[in-house]
Amino acid sequence: MRVVSGIQPTGNLHLGNYLGAIRNWVRMQDAMEDGSQCLFFLADLHAISMPHDPAELHKGTLEMAAALVACGIDPAKSVVFNQAQVPQHAELQWLLGGTARMGWLNRMTQWKDKAGKNREGQSVALFTYPVLQAADVLLYQATHVPVGEDQKQHLELARDIAQKFNNDFASEEAPVFALPDPIVPPQAARIMSLRDGGKKMSKSDPSDMSRINLADSADEVMKKVKKAKTDPEPLPSEEKGLEDRPEALNLVTIYAALTDGNVESVLKDFGGEGFGKFKPALGELLVETLRPISERFNGLLEDREALDAILARGASQAREIAVPTLENTYKALGL
Ligand code: ADP
Ligand code: NA
Repeated sequence: MRVVSGIQPTGNLHLGNYLGAIRNWVRMQDAMEDGSQCLFFLADLHAISMPHDPAELHKGTLEMAAALVACGIDPAKSVVFNQAQVPQHAELQWLLGGTARMGWLNRMTQWKDKAGKNREGQSVALFTYPVLQAADVLLYQATHVPVGEDQKQHLELARDIAQKFNNDFASEEAPVFALPDPIVPPQAARIMSLRDGGKKMSKSDPSDMSRINLADSADEVMKKVKKAKTDPEPLPSEEKGLEDRPEALNLVTIYAALTDGNVESVLKDFGGEGFGKFKPALGELLVETLRPISERFNGLLEDREALDAILARGASQAREIAVPTLENTYKALGL
């Protein structure tokens, strides 16, 4: 089994990113059996399909790499790298461009959503983005690709491209590309803003008090939890008592996610208690969970050499897997 997964290189990572995404990848890595392997790459090549700030992209790529490792993605178990350091991604994308059909790309709902009515004004990269995604996984003969609802269509496209290429340029006994299967990631927690239970916790929220950052100190975490918006009622003993209390529900959800419990199990312990008791307990739990992560995260960002070394090693491992596939592709095409 070889799992390949790409991650947007965002910076300013927060608790929502950890509980909603990164922790799942760590669990996937840790569930791999002997002989199986995960490749996690930072999709920096994809990022240039939209207007972007080069300095921000560079910073975001490093921060995401540091966050992955700090949260438990182990470079000794998994291959961690960024796309731009493995030129075979861009190369294979061009080679697959002869096989992908305009009509297939025109049907991609993400392209339609992102381009809207202004198709003429979009970058070529935004249109061909799914071909790069196909290259990202076909390059490594991925057997499985974790996909959310919004990415299912792109994985289908990758399979269509692989199938047509194998059909047109290879024999059935010696296909150039493996057809990857989707894996649906487990339902992850959705963490809301600490200032407004109707909004997702997000890096783009202007208020820093709305989120717990992976880089926050213990004092900052305690302060943010203490100031988190709540209501004057004590916690109910059953989940339905939280129906119209989004802020209270969010804090209980965070507690549940951190303890691998659920809302019911947290209410069993804290039902009837006020926030004067629940918030300090939640704050301490957060500090305890995040301390090793933020220490490692901040440490890696300060030790650029160590971080660069991790990415360079990952890129070289990735290239080793990628090169034979790329050579076969050239050969099959008569190049
Ligand atoms: P942001 O909303 O801060 O811009 P991104 O859109 O960059 O975060 O998301 C990166 C990853 O983290 C995605 O997989 C996304 O689903 C997850 N994620 C982001 N915010 C949350 C949240 N509040 N709760 C759960 N998961 C989240
Ligand atoms: Na976002």
